[in-house]
Amino acid sequence: MRKAVIPAAGLGTRFAPATKAMPKEMLPVVDKPAIQYVVEEAARSGITDVLIITGRNKRSLEDHFDREPSLEQALADKGDTVRLAAVQEPTALADIHYVRQGDPKGLGHAVLRARSHVGDEPFAVLLGDDLIHEEDELLTEMIRVQEQTGGSVIGLMEVEPAEIAAYGCADVVPASGSTPGDGDYVRVRRLVEKPCPAEAPSNLAVIGRYVLHPAVFDVLETTPPGRGGEIQLTDALQTLAAGDSDGFGVYGVVFRGRRFDTGDKLSYLKAVFTLAIERSDLGPDLRKWLSAQSEGADLG
Ligand code: UTP
Repeated sequence: MRKAVIPAAGLGTRFAPATKAMPKEMLPVVDKPAIQYVVEEAARSGITDVLIITGRNKRSLEDHFDREPSLEQALADKGDTVRLAAVQEPTALADIHYVRQGDPKGLGHAVLRARSHVGDEPFAVLLGDDLIHEEDELLTEMIRVQEQTGGSVIGLMEVEPAEIAAYGCADVVPASGSTPGDGDYVRVRRLVEKPCPAEAPSNLAVIGRYVLHPAVFDVLETTPPGRGGEIQLTDALQTLAAGDSDGFGVYGVVFRGRRFDTGDKLSYLKAVFTLAIERSDLGPDLRKWLSAQSEGADLG
């Protein structure tokens, strides 16, 4: 697997007004924009070519993964080698390309914009606002399952039944080639976009990681607008899941680690606190401050 697509052209309405002039993928999680964690995750899985789907107001995304000579010079002059390395790091993660989506007509439409770049090979899709903790591996396992099955693979996560209405939901059965305990995976029979809890076939939510067979492009070309008037990737995957099981089937890897939706305000704050607390430069003081706060002490 060489290529990844990162859709980052959404409007980010849930995070307005912060997203009025800045893409939500550029919101800082401690001191790096959310999308840098996503590109780092792709690079850790062996991906060398990243296509970011952008839109209006997304110039800062391209600037972030480019050189910044004046800032680099200023840090070099100060002898601040640590920050200099941090500023240069995003430029070396992968070979990064950009294509604009035009109108943000949905995630499926964004993925279809990658067709000519990806060509006829399996590829990964990582949502630019979905953050997976770096110690909790998911993408590598999904790539392994794609290679084993030859189909498409989606990342799944158990959620509270009441929360399923915010996600795509998967109806699954055990997969025949899967060995329990040895990186097991499931077969997806049906996908439903944002079902009401009473009609949800399970509590397995689709999260922002996919490893897709290129057959998805032909399906997306003919997928009509679905929920919200948008072309939904979930609808195209439902078509693949319902079709020929040899080659084009859909499988799921159930993720049990830490995942944050940085496009959602509460989940974004959890991401910031979780990652800051783990850091040696910020963690001890932040912990102290938080425990003083929980005891109702005067924080000063
Ligand atoms: P979201 O479902 O979070 O939608 O997209 P959104 O429009 O960005 O945000 P809200 O709901 O209005 O707050 C999931 C991912 O898909 C991308 C987004 O940038 C995000 O990374 N996306 C979504 C596109 O690239 N294009 C689209 O048309 C829609």
